[in-house]
Amino acid sequence: MKKGRRQFLKAGVLGGITAAAASVSTAGEALKKKSEHKSLNILVLGGTGFIGPHMVREALRRRHTITLFNRGRSNSALFPDLETIIGDRGSDLSGLEGRQWDAVIDNSGYVPRHVRDSARLLSSNTGHYLYISTVAVYEDFSEPNHEGSALAQIEDKETEEVTGETYGPLKALCEQKAREEIGDESLTILRPTYICGPGDHTDRFSYWPIRTSKGGEMLWPGEPTRPMQVIDVRDLANFTIDCVARRIAGIYNTVTPSDSYSMGNLLEDSQAVTGVSVDPVWVDEPFIEKYDAGAKRGLPLFHAASGDSPQIFRTSGSSARAAGLHNRPIRETIRDLMSWWKSLPDERTSNPKSGLTADREAELIAAWKEEHA
Ligand SMILES: NC(=O)c1ccc[n+]([C@@H]2O[C@H](COP(=O)([O-])OP(=O)(O)OC[C@H]3O[C@@H](n4cnc5c(N)ncnc54)[C@H](OP(=O)(O)O)[C@@H]3O)[C@@H](O)[C@H]2O)c1
Repeated sequence: MKKGRRQFLKAGVLGGITAAAASVSTAGEALKKKSEHKSLNILVLGGTGFIGPHMVREALRRRHTITLFNRGRSNSALFPDLETIIGDRGSDLSGLEGRQWDAVIDNSGYVPRHVRDSARLLSSNTGHYLYISTVAVYEDFSEPNHEGSALAQIEDKETEEVTGETYGPLKALCEQKAREEIGDESLTILRPTYICGPGDHTDRFSYWPIRTSKGGEMLWPGEPTRPMQVIDVRDLANFTIDCVARRIAGIYNTVTPSDSYSMGNLLEDSQAVTGVSVDPVWVDEPFIEKYDAGAKRGLPLFHAASGDSPQIFRTSGSSARAAGLHNRPIRETIRDLMSWWKSLPDERTSNPKSGLTADREAELIAAWKEEHA
């Protein structure tokens, strides 16, 4: 594993399949279009966390039938009308034995052994397997990545400890296990960047519009032209269901278009949606490093140019868009996540999980002003 790898998304080159090659061939297009409208039996491994419910709802909206598989710990009352098989991916897959599904969406694979075991068990019982990976699988972020870029390696391939350091390399190994068990023809691998929108329990993207809604002087990192990329959870869900419905195989980064959006755009959109104007205080990287302001929950979605993932927000998403991924305007994402946020109880909204606390932000702004008086 690359030393000093940035711990940015925890929440070997993949030769062979490429998105474009494995995508929809002209000859198969008609057949796939036809199958798009067929009602499928879909098994979702992990459908009750953040992104899973959006996929489940989209699949139900398109009249597919869903079976859930999880431990029954997260939001267990969310889908009372759906069949739920209770089991732990680490120790008990027995509920999946002897069953058939048209497609499997693997949302909860963080450990290679778990992905290997479920893919092995399901390989002969399903027509298509879709694995949710991450852009954190890439080895290096000093240049923009595309689907063929080198993947991160991990020395201890047996470790099952998922940390900020091991998350990306373990997801790369999970991808490899899925490929070994399922084969490239029937496998889709999606690599989302930061996922945002209603239901996001990390508050990493949400911090910016939520903080904007409070007004006053607001600290912003770097400069307004700094690029930013996310994926709206609903766009990811739509594309996921498209992939299983149309049997689109291959590997796809799922991100907003590279260089289409910046931190300055995020400020503008946050102000426009919330109807609140802030007084932005843009602080530079040396200042952020000096005060360790980017650390941990400090400034989410900030990746220093001098850090180890400077080009993370220039990941190519063109293959996914060619295969049908649609990215809604980020202003719409902000609008919907703010309505969701307002619907949450006080104990949740009074303690966001990312971003500067009010006191820390005031301290930093005062220090910046003093240094630049
Ligand atoms: N959030 C992001 O920004 C982001 C970015 C890139 C990629 N991703 C990827 O997106 C996927 C889903 O993320 P998420 O944030 O939606 O996850 P999440 O909220 O933590 O949801 C995890 C789901 O998996 C189930 N689950 C977890 N461990 C399990 C186990 N051992 N056995 C059976 N079921 C288990 C959970 O239900 P129970 O607890 O009831 O078991 C829940 O339904 C992950 O693969 C992640 O790597 C996320």
